Amino acid sequence: MRIIEVNDYQQMSKRAAEYIINKVVQNPSIKLGLATGGTPIGTYKSLIEDHQKNGTSYQKVTTFNLDEYIGLSSDNKNSYRYFMNDHLFNYIDINKAKTNIPSGIAPDFQEECHRYEDIISRHGGIDLQILGIGSNGHIGFNEPGTSFGSKTHIVNLAPSTIQANARFFSRIEEVPTKAITMGISTILKSKEILLLISGEKKKDALCRLLNGEINESFPASVLKNHPCVTIIADKVAIADLEVQCL
Ligand code: F6R
Repeated sequence: MRIIEVNDYQQMSKRAAEYIINKVVQNPSIKLGLATGGTPIGTYKSLIEDHQKNGTSYQKVTTFNLDEYIGLSSDNKNSYRYFMNDHLFNYIDINKAKTNIPSGIAPDFQEECHRYEDIISRHGGIDLQILGIGSNGHIGFNEPGTSFGSKTHIVNLAPSTIQANARFFSRIEEVPTKAITMGISTILKSKEILLLISGEKKKDALCRLLNGEINESFPASVLKNHPCVTIIADKVAIADLEVQCL
């Protein structure tokens, strides 16, 4: 794993956007894996600014999001489909038909998981997957204890994840308790992974990721088995960890 240390959230976002733009320019038909949550919002903002200023085009890009809440439709402001439209897709020239997110209202969720896993494979897999990390080490919505061999599946969200995500809802009772997520093996099949980590609340997770064992009790630890992971982390998250940064 390669670590890039930056000063703050803003720099992390700018650096991550530059990283992604560079890949899109090199390969206009790139398959991008995308995340939601607070961490990538600044990155998406920078991608939009660059698109408006420099015209980087996403017309041929295909995207696959990590996850979606079960029970929320695309017009629900808290759905991840709505999030992606609102924070990125509506403001760049991407073809929305090429943007993939599991359906939170599929008639058969098991079937939806198979469909999603299959569509990623049929596209030849993900070239670059963007990830955030939960303070409990989750990646996507793969909570502690998830098998490293898991494919796209249905999850019961951990109480700590529901609590953390309640900030996006008006009441904690509105946070869905289930979601569909790419599995850990789905994520690991990506050719390259860019993990973004910012802030005090992620300090312990980063420390455990770097210094702890590879273990299903801390899902992100599996990233140490991947040959091409870049972490962009800010100073607060890195704190006084003894890491070799670029
Ligand atoms: C989002 C996702 C999650 C988040 C994680 C961190 O699609 O799959 O794993 O990346 O929960 O969330 P934030 O960025 O809000 O701290």
